[in-house]
Amino acid sequence: MSTALASALLPALPRPGEALARLHRRWPLPALAAWSLAWALFVALRGSTAPLWLAVALATAAGALLALPSSTQMRRLLVAGGFPLSLAASGAAAALPGWAWLLPLALLALAYPLRAWQDAPWFPTPSGALDQLAELAPLPAGAAVLDAGCGAGHGLAALRRAYPEARLEGTEWSRPLAWAARLRCPWARVRRGDLWQQSWSSFSLVYLFQRPESLPRAVAKASAELAPGDWLASLEFPAVELVPQGIGRAEDGRPVWLYRHPFVRSVPAPDADTLRRLGSSRPPRGR
Ligand SMILES: C[S@@+](CC[C@H](N)C(=O)[O-])C[C@H]1O[C@@H](n2cnc3c(N)ncnc32)[C@H](O)[C@@H]1O
Repeated sequence: MSTALASALLPALPRPGEALARLHRRWPLPALAAWSLAWALFVALRGSTAPLWLAVALATAAGALLALPSSTQMRRLLVAGGFPLSLAASGAAAALPGWAWLLPLALLALAYPLRAWQDAPWFPTPSGALDQLAELAPLPAGAAVLDAGCGAGHGLAALRRAYPEARLEGTEWSRPLAWAARLRCPWARVRRGDLWQQSWSSFSLVYLFQRPESLPRAVAKASAELAPGDWLASLEFPAVELVPQGIGRAEDGRPVWLYRHPFVRSVPAPDADTLRRLGSSRPPRGR
């Protein structure tokens, strides 16, 4: 193929991440495709010399990986669970020992290491949830934006809709989710790591979709590391100790809380003594 013909045709071809995202909007096609692929892999492996346990493990892992980009938790469960459940019902793996059915749990532990549960398990940001952000928290072109705990990249995709000219980065503790985010968002820099260990000082906006319990820690980190004028954004859960500078609305009505550094406190910043007591089992009195 000549270079001219290739460059004319290539832009028309969807990139792998885009093709996957498009497939996942056509429910139940992604489930049918994932189950068929997992079964095809199982049958192919059984036709080779692979032992039964390996065929089951690899086909289950393939189904779980294909489930990651699904838009809701329920769909993810359906896509990932289809192969092992239909296998159990078919009796094709009757020779497997009972403990082998713990495999899905082991895969879940791989996808969701314990640390990821401490802040928030994986719930993705809906695609248009951050559309009001650029108006409420304007950023210059090329500004660096972080999705802290970026999951499979849904938040990064929503941030890109809001800030198409920003430099987008994501940090994710779960390895499979970080891989999925790289696939979904080839235009973003996704690193696998702990959002609390990474410095936020180079970012103009840090976006979070974590548990309410994580927000005081996020406020303390953002207060120490962001520069005046930078933003902290949180989907759904407010930082109760701060006064928001703006509140956006996701299309499903959930609030997007926006705080600009230097933050305005609604309650006094905790002193060292209070911080020590917060670290103990009982919160300080009067809160
Ligand atoms: C509610 S999900 C949000 C995902 C993504 N930000 C979005 O909005 O679509 C929270 C994500 O944070 C990740 N996470 C939790 N604790 C983390 C930590 N300490 N470091 C990095 N990622 C973490 C979880 O694995 C999960 O994928």
